[in-house]
Amino acid sequence: MELIDGKAVATAIKKEIDAEVEKMLAAGHRRPHLAAVLVGHDGGSETYVAAKVKACEECGFTSTLIRMEEDVTEEELLATVERLNNDNEVDGFIVQLPLPRHISEQRVIETIDYRKDVDGFHPVNVGRMSIGLPCFVSATPAGIMELLSRYNIPTRGARCVVLGRSNIVGKPVAMLMMQKANPGDATVSVCHSATRDLKDICRQADIIIAALGQPGFVTADMVKPGATIIDVGTTRVPDATRKSGFRLRGDVDFENVAPLCSFITPVPGGVGPMTIVSLMRNTLLAARHEIY
Ligand code: GUN
Repeated sequence: MELIDGKAVATAIKKEIDAEVEKMLAAGHRRPHLAAVLVGHDGGSETYVAAKVKACEECGFTSTLIRMEEDVTEEELLATVERLNNDNEVDGFIVQLPLPRHISEQRVIETIDYRKDVDGFHPVNVGRMSIGLPCFVSATPAGIMELLSRYNIPTRGARCVVLGRSNIVGKPVAMLMMQKANPGDATVSVCHSATRDLKDICRQADIIIAALGQPGFVTADMVKPGATIIDVGTTRVPDATRKSGFRLRGDVDFENVAPLCSFITPVPGGVGPMTIVSLMRNTLLAARHEIY
């Protein structure tokens, strides 16, 4: 069994990006600039956005954090999005999700200029990704593909089971895995809460990508010996021994599944660090105007 060290790969990629930024500066360009809009004070969102700002520093980017209170109106938020769309000093931006219930996430996403949509959530980017055109690919699926690539995990003709059908992970990663590309060219099944015979389907998989947000869902009896397991789960579970009072648990029963696998991602330190690095990559693409 080989552990897929997302943290180490992410550190290496951040160095690569920083070197690219140095070249841009030497050529007379300014630093890439990512802005993040954070509405309210959700603990998870605060942590994610802080990590994105820190990654910007590590990559040599400029970052701007725009905070708005929980009771901000949809109109006020949309006006901020429009301002960022028109700000030539900002290459790309994200609006951290989830948003308060009184705001339409879809409306916000569709208001973002797709050329600055470094999250890859705008329908133009999702559509382009699904037909294999240049676009911003959303960060978690892009990070998963990068790990498969860097670890030379064979995907061509492989049976790949994706657990979960979210717009952010399940659907896009299924699209990328089936695409005529390397990594890609897999035979993909997307499973969800209504799937029958789930265990039998999983047991046939060469690659399982677990993205359903249920800690420990994938158990040893669902895994074919020699399979590759990508664990996207990051559920906070109470842990009194930690200063924070919680720890992260993945969707895979790691202890019992890991000995069976050829490759597996840990939680934390697997997919998570790659997600942020993919956002940095997209910001670099935006700064170079490579998506238009
Ligand atoms: N909330 C959870 N993951 C993400 C992400 O990748 N981007 C944004 N904007 N919000 C999120």
